[in-house]
Amino acid sequence: MKKVYIRSYGCQMNVYDSQRMGDLLGPLGYEAAAAPEDADLIILNTCHIREKAAEKVYSELGKLRYLKKRRARNGNAPVIAVAGCVAQAEGEEIVRRERAVDLVFGPQTYHRLPDLLKSHALSGRPVVETEFPPEDKFDHLTKTVPKRGVTAFLTVQEGCDKFCTFCVVPYTRGAEFSRPVTQIETEARALVEGGVREITLLGQNVNAYHGLGTDGEVWSLARLITYLSRIDGIERLRFTTSHPRDMSDDLIAAYAENPKLMPYLHLPIQAGSDRILKEMNRGHHSEDYLKLIARIRDACPDIALSGDFIVGFPDETEADFEATLAIIREVRYASAFSFKYSPRPGTPAAEMAGQVADEVKSERLARLQALLASQQKAFNRGCLGRDMAILLEKPGRHPGQLIGRSPYLQSVYIDAGTHAIGDMVNVTIDAVGSNSLSAHIHP
Ligand code: SAH
Ligand code: SF4
Ligand code: F3S
Repeated sequence: MKKVYIRSYGCQMNVYDSQRMGDLLGPLGYEAAAAPEDADLIILNTCHIREKAAEKVYSELGKLRYLKKRRARNGNAPVIAVAGCVAQAEGEEIVRRERAVDLVFGPQTYHRLPDLLKSHALSGRPVVETEFPPEDKFDHLTKTVPKRGVTAFLTVQEGCDKFCTFCVVPYTRGAEFSRPVTQIETEARALVEGGVREITLLGQNVNAYHGLGTDGEVWSLARLITYLSRIDGIERLRFTTSHPRDMSDDLIAAYAENPKLMPYLHLPIQAGSDRILKEMNRGHHSEDYLKLIARIRDACPDIALSGDFIVGFPDETEADFEATLAIIREVRYASAFSFKYSPRPGTPAAEMAGQVADEVKSERLARLQALLASQQKAFNRGCLGRDMAILLEKPGRHPGQLIGRSPYLQSVYIDAGTHAIGDMVNVTIDAVGSNSLSAHIHP
């Protein structure tokens, strides 16, 4: 057996892609290595979203260079591959900057990995593959999926046509594309077969999904969710990430009508100031977002809302920043991610006047995160004493303890008794911390 070590950076779509790479390598005789030291093939599946994310890759490659050199002396140098969004954005530049790299391929070419390995083995030279291919990569991935546990990601939509001025995704992932329903269904059934009970549908703009349905019509995400929720064995569905502009009425209605769709929504607004939203090319005003949130809460009063925020976008004034805080106060998020704006090469915002000083960004981020942390705490506190269904996912810290997920995506620690991973249990929440809850199972 050969061994592969895959390290995933960035978003859930990369986690999914990394798993699919592993699935492709299985039939070639590879099994998973516990650490890079034991691997014959090391893949870094990279993220380009912020400068720090991209820089991490080069520092990791620096370490791998020594590992490769050391092992070359014993004649077992590993093959080093850079995949993902840095690979797509930088291509050839990566092998120029880091000579230890053997393979470079992007998010839309990883299905060619077996061929790339072969041509590298034949030539002994670096192979770079970052063209957007004409074929559908999903047609070339394995149809069977090995065991994934009780929850799994399933990519249904890829790429982005929105071109927010700060963002690299449209360049690294390419144009928006939706997978056909039958292809998704086949994969979902294979996951369920392997024991998965909860599926999170993924896409950079997942709610813009418009794939070919089983009746030859174009289906929306809401229709896809309705269809998948009829598969026996699927207990819960989630989806991420959504754009406010694509939050259609049928998708909002699905929260009220479909008990398998969990009451959780990640719906980033990024900033609260309309002037900044316009400069970001987000295509909506803060008022539209608030109205949308009100309609979603009408359909699903207990929904847990999540979002992403960027502070220090070019020309952001203190007043603009205050508008972001005001939106957050109004919405009351259950959880959220927030970042300092990072200028990315090739994106319009990187060239804009009025780049904000790093100290200002740091100071704003700290204020924003304090507010978000207090909201998360409040949301969790609101769960105290409540009854809810928990899907048991993994072992906890103590013997007999299991960790499950609430409908709102919180981690819940439970003394599970005779219950096992994969069981759905009804509990009462006994205690809340900032990041997790604990509960007891109803007798
Ligand atoms: N498609 C999603 C976002 C994908 S990127 C959406 O439209 O909401 C994930 C998050 O990274 C974004 O929501 C944004 O908050 C953040 N991000 C993207 N580019 C960034 C940049 N240049 N600097 C800082 N944060 C960024
Ligand atoms: Fe990036 Fe905007 Fe597309 Fe989201 S919608 S992936 S932030 S360009
Ligand atoms: Fe990063 Fe690419 Fe995802 S840039 S956030 S890995 S789409």
